[in-house]
Amino acid sequence: MKVSLLGYGGWALGKKGWPGVDEKEAGKTLEACIGQGINFFDTAPVYGFGRSEEVLGEALSGMRQQVIIATKCGLRWNDRGSVKHNLSQDSIAGEIEQSLQRLRTDYIDLYQIHWPDTHTPLEETMKKLTELQAQGVIRHIGVSNFSPELLEKARALAPVVSVQEPYNMLQREAEAAVLPLCRRLGLGFICYSPLAQGLLSNTLSPDFKPGRHDVRRLNPLYRNPELFTAGMALVEKNQPDPAAAALAFVARQEAVSTMLVSMTQQKHLAENCTALLHAGCR
Ligand SMILES: NC(=O)c1ccc[n+]([C@@H]2O[C@H](COP(=O)([O-])OP(=O)(O)OC[C@H]3O[C@@H](n4cnc5c(N)ncnc54)[C@H](OP(=O)(O)O)[C@@H]3O)[C@@H](O)[C@H]2O)c1
Repeated sequence: MKVSLLGYGGWALGKKGWPGVDEKEAGKTLEACIGQGINFFDTAPVYGFGRSEEVLGEALSGMRQQVIIATKCGLRWNDRGSVKHNLSQDSIAGEIEQSLQRLRTDYIDLYQIHWPDTHTPLEETMKKLTELQAQGVIRHIGVSNFSPELLEKARALAPVVSVQEPYNMLQREAEAAVLPLCRRLGLGFICYSPLAQGLLSNTLSPDFKPGRHDVRRLNPLYRNPELFTAGMALVEKNQPDPAAAALAFVARQEAVSTMLVSMTQQKHLAENCTALLHAGCR
């Protein structure tokens, strides 16, 4: 898979957890991505409990061959809205059917384990994913939020091609082991939250506190005042365009195959493309 360095992060398309998203503007931004050369689109069933996949499926339905669609499995929700980890083969069998329907496609380019599930043997999960790959329902297998040890274990069980982890100026844990491992083994590294969910841009004030329905209330960068202050200091240091500096920082890591940025405003898409062009990136 030849993926664009700037990838589209589809979490906010689901709206849940992202208050203030304007659906119409988000739709226009998504459409504009193709014109900007973005070919990699990441989503997950749990984003908006199916909504992100539905919107993405509708927007991309006329151009299936030109785009690479990545979705995930392993986070299931119930009627009360509580989310549980489940990577059992039966659960995956149900999830993939629903993802295909919502995404209006008969194959997924990259199917990723969203988070590990300590209650299901990894052998069972990888066997199911390998079966789906043999059937042509999924083209490639990826993992996300895996430790280097678990990644190695998964690779021994199935042909894993990519790993998706947080990576930005404030969250650099991947540099210690996962990034070198990807470089050594030729695995794709998919960076998520390159802007630290907005903290590394000019959009937040120093007294920002995520509201009750904002996903950022769970993010350690927003929960820990010291980390939040460190983010604000980087924003100050990288004026006049801290977001551009944050994206260029990620792009400089050679092992990064693509960085997923959630963009629901056309001006952000334009700014991010310009930032990477100025940084001399592919
Ligand atoms: N595997 C996982 O567990 C996992 C976890 C988190 C995320 N992800 C994936 O990674 C994607 C991106 O990560 P993320 O959503 O956590 O964080 P992010 O992309 O670092 O940050 C998204 C936020 O940055 C804003 N933004 C984008 N461009 C901007 C710019 N030029 N200037 C100022 N603000 C800008 C967006 O605003 P607007 O919406 O207003 O444009 C949005 O509020 C997700 O959509 C998802 O696909 C995966």
